[in-house]
Amino acid sequence: MPHERPARLPGAEAGVLAFPDQRSVSRAAEARLAEAVGLAASIGLTIVHSAAFPLRTRRPSTLLGEGQVEAAKLAIEENKVGVVVVDAALTPVQQRNLERAWGCKVIDRTGLILEIFGERARTREGSLQVELAHLEYQRTRLVRSWTHLERQRGGFGFLGGPGESQIEIDRRLIGERIVKLKKELEQVRRTRGLHRAARTRVPFPVVALVGYTNAGKSTLFNALTGAGVYAQDQLFATLDPTMRAIRLPSGRTVILSDTVGFISDLPTQLIEAFRATLEEVAAADIILHVRDVAHPDTSSQRSDVLGVLHEMASGENPTLDEHWMGRTIEVLNKADLLGGIADVPGTDASAIAVSALTGEGLDILRAALDARLAANMVTLDYALPPSDGARIAWLYQHGEVLAREDADDCIRLTVRLSPADRARFEQA
Ligand code: GTP
Repeated sequence: MPHERPARLPGAEAGVLAFPDQRSVSRAAEARLAEAVGLAASIGLTIVHSAAFPLRTRRPSTLLGEGQVEAAKLAIEENKVGVVVVDAALTPVQQRNLERAWGCKVIDRTGLILEIFGERARTREGSLQVELAHLEYQRTRLVRSWTHLERQRGGFGFLGGPGESQIEIDRRLIGERIVKLKKELEQVRRTRGLHRAARTRVPFPVVALVGYTNAGKSTLFNALTGAGVYAQDQLFATLDPTMRAIRLPSGRTVILSDTVGFISDLPTQLIEAFRATLEEVAAADIILHVRDVAHPDTSSQRSDVLGVLHEMASGENPTLDEHWMGRTIEVLNKADLLGGIADVPGTDASAIAVSALTGEGLDILRAALDARLAANMVTLDYALPPSDGARIAWLYQHGEVLAREDADDCIRLTVRLSPADRARFEQA
């Protein structure tokens, strides 16, 4: 079963317009357009047309120049486009003017990214962060076309009060909701039960895929999970399409978990929300950092990803423990574009060249996962009451029991466990 992301706007015909950002000159316009197309497709839009427009000046009314608005309109009509994704931050006025000029719905970069985060946030904190970012974004525009999102989240009724215009009422209600969400977030952070929930949710070591959007995470995910339907998998596949069980050469079962992709020039108001969607990385036994080695910006993308992980592990409220580096393996993907895995520079035990597309190098990656999991194992002694059958069975199932001593009042077990399993066991 291929790994498909849930679609929120299924079948909508969309066009994508990308604007080479003048601030980041290193990024080729083409790569930028490919990224925008990939992002739009990941929320279930069918892309029927895409085009890059260089921005010489930024018009306050429509961002694009007059001629560009016209040219886009022709393409929109010709391709019967229902939604245009503009890969730039639009002001509320620009968004409204473009919707009028083109006669269709317009989503800007921030809106698009919010849609993606909303779909992928899994923890309570993640969903709250995304909703907060969404409301703050919405407060400034109050565009009616976003109401489908409110419904998705359970919504909060926009009720009228005497003497207020609809927009004022909406703005007030959004403001109240923001205050409430912030309180709730604080509460969630204080209790921090979520790490524990994430750890105990899956009974096997977790391998989390992180990386830039378009690096090939989903392709790798599908290549590793393969065609065979694996019995252990059914539970996860139905609960969560971004988690699948795979069996490594040693026979060990691990759960592969896909995360939301990193995005270049992430709007600053979305950084917190993005980090919250990465929370499951914190519970991972291994972090697979998938890189597109053929991308012109591959090394700056790498530092971006490492920078975010580093920030997650530092500061006042770290969401990642300090040993994350030791649990990271870089996957140098798209080796086929460089001539094959032998031609990829900089490979070693923790940087493995693969082609998720052709399958080359995947056997080496699987073996590396096995080796890393084995190397991370810790040997521990536990004394448990004989009545605690469930926990004893759990240790047999998840660890390697090296020694056992049965006394009347306690059973002593010496077990080899992965660090994450240890945490699961000791916190349960
Ligand atoms: P997001 O979902 O946006 O985060 O992207 P992703 O990282 O999941 O990337 P995805 O797997 O969707 O791949 C992006 C593009 O790269 C697709 O067109 C893939 O076919 C292509 N791709 C992935 N892996 C390889 C590879 O090994 N070689 C080549 N040549 N192309 C690849």
